[in-house]
Amino acid sequence: MPPCWTLSREIVLMYPACEHIDMLRILVVHGPNLNLLGAREQSIYGTLSLEALDSAITKLAKELAVEVNQRQSNSEGELVTWIQEARTKYDGIIINPAAYTHTSVAIRDAIAAVGLPTVEVHLSNIHQREEFRHRSYIAGVALGQIAGLGPTGYLLALRGLHDHLTTSRRQEKRPTSVPSRRRTKGASPLRSRLKDRVQSEGSIE
Ligand code: DQA
Repeated sequence: MPPCWTLSREIVLMYPACEHIDMLRILVVHGPNLNLLGAREQSIYGTLSLEALDSAITKLAKELAVEVNQRQSNSEGELVTWIQEARTKYDGIIINPAAYTHTSVAIRDAIAAVGLPTVEVHLSNIHQREEFRHRSYIAGVALGQIAGLGPTGYLLALRGLHDHLTTSRRQEKRPTSVPSRRRTKGASPLRSRLKDRVQSEGSIE
């Protein structure tokens, strides 16, 4: 792939082959038992398979010009590792932690540690179900939570996260004197991720 050039910390020279660098990247994480969607407790979770759900997410992502990557695991440790790895590779996370929502301090800590805007999604309305499902360890570190809207919840999460990230990027790019004073205190997360990507995909500084 031809290199993308950074002339300075602030200026990245873009040309069509490098457009992917500026594309928003969102990781979609499905927790335990969601591989059984479509077969599992249909009266609660519906009849759509995980594969069909992921296709609907991919379709919307194309419309929004967002790159998405979907993963499912039944293992808490694997979910934590994926969240950690997302720090330098993605701009945001959509997660249905499934049963780990109600138990996992480790997943909550991973989300807090990476600091990526994260939307928590549940197919069912966890607040209307058994009491043990009312508590989410994730909600406190999430940008927002969507529950009870079935597969549509993931599509709303994607739109919401896209809006949030686009607005943040626009604000970062705006050349105003007041925010720039704030920016000098440390590199912004979006800017440093962009820089990481430029460096890992071949750049000349
Ligand atoms: C779920 C709700 C959780 O309580 C449950 O353990 C799941 C799925 C949902 O999408 O509604 O596995 O996250």
